[in-house]
Amino acid sequence: MSRFAEPQDALFQALNSSISFDIRLAPYDIAQSRAHARMLARAGVISTEEAGELERGLEAVGAEIDSGRFDIRPDDEDVHMAVERRLTEIVGAVGGKLHTARSRNDQVATDVAMFVRDRARVAGELAGALMATLVDLAERHLDWPMPAYTHLQRAQPVYLSHHLLAWVGKLRRDRLRFGFCLEAIGELPLGAGALAGVNFDTDRGYLARELGFARPAPNSIDAVSNRDFALDYLSAAATCATHLSQLGAELVLWSSEEFRFCEVADAFASGSSIMPQKKNPDAAELLRAKAPRVTGHLVALHGVLHGLPLTYNKDLQEDKEHLFDAADTLELCLRAAEGMLSGARFDRERMAAAAADELLAATDVADLLVRRGVPFRESHGVVAGLVRAALERGVAPSQLSAEDLRALAPALSPADLAGVLREGAALESKASQGGTALPRVREQLAAARAELASPPA
Ligand code: ARG
Repeated sequence: MSRFAEPQDALFQALNSSISFDIRLAPYDIAQSRAHARMLARAGVISTEEAGELERGLEAVGAEIDSGRFDIRPDDEDVHMAVERRLTEIVGAVGGKLHTARSRNDQVATDVAMFVRDRARVAGELAGALMATLVDLAERHLDWPMPAYTHLQRAQPVYLSHHLLAWVGKLRRDRLRFGFCLEAIGELPLGAGALAGVNFDTDRGYLARELGFARPAPNSIDAVSNRDFALDYLSAAATCATHLSQLGAELVLWSSEEFRFCEVADAFASGSSIMPQKKNPDAAELLRAKAPRVTGHLVALHGVLHGLPLTYNKDLQEDKEHLFDAADTLELCLRAAEGMLSGARFDRERMAAAAADELLAATDVADLLVRRGVPFRESHGVVAGLVRAALERGVAPSQLSAEDLRALAPALSPADLAGVLREGAALESKASQGGTALPRVREQLAAARAELASPPA
């Protein structure tokens, strides 16, 4: 019997059906169904033999899906219905007992939680692998000076290792965020039923243990409406993808002819269909461009959830494609970023030449005057005058005449200036915590190595 007198309209089916994408949840659906069958037997709701038959049948369905032999039928609205339909074909009427004390509402929330848990774990591991690649690169380019930029204008010299370790810091926080996702996902929705709990004496603690959750979700109404874990994952993914986009953007700039600080390996570049000389850093460009797509999925899911009354609403079906595409995109980007960076070659001379620009030591000259008691605001003005004169005369500050120097900065001798402008001086004097002086970069490297050796649990 059906409650409905009419068949479903094809357009409604097309809108309503999720099987084309949620079939991907089948391994989770099958694992939770097997645990549910065992639990039902332990609780005396079905017999042990029946549970055994259900488990064997579910295993067979899983094998069909894994090997691509599974036949999706037009009436299979979603993965849950498809698995149960096929199960019943294989094991007969006992298949109809599986859905006792369960609803698709707690079932789907559980599948999605298990999916997100796996993706958060993988993203954390991939972020760790990329951190390791960056730490290796930092070690290999420990004392390579380069200019650092603000407003994309040359600002102060740093070591390339220091810059690479800045990316490590961002990925470190990404990894922590994915770790937080894993913690937040500890509550098992299964057993909440449609929304109010179920009419059987079920053992949700057993289910939680079997399915690797810390505890059953304490409120059935919250359990079936909760998708916070999906937002947490998408938020962590969006931030991580944004970091990769910044990294990609720098690689694009650095590999341009104007910078020529680095060159990506041929394996991560492409040519032009018309200009034979071109070598385009497409991988870096796409890292730059993929981030808004991931962030878009986060924003879209917020849109789905906002204003939604409790508990289950079909709107919640719209969580999946956002999650799936975000996870696929992010994991591909993390892997490609690692591949691209491990093969990138940096140009020591180009970077050093750019870092040797004397104007990058302007702050250091001002600080020399500060050491002599001149208030910083005043010394800033004095050095600004020197910079302006040098630019007007088209010379480096060290080439200004003694006369200019006397007039503009009477407290500075040519020897003073030469001392501050000496190669490497502006780098090694940045010895404050977290700074670019080599001992400080070594500290940062050691901390990053230690963190990689014992990643957050
Ligand atoms: N395909 C649905 C989803 O993804 C499964 C839950 C359907 N529940 C319901 N009461 N119609 O959300």
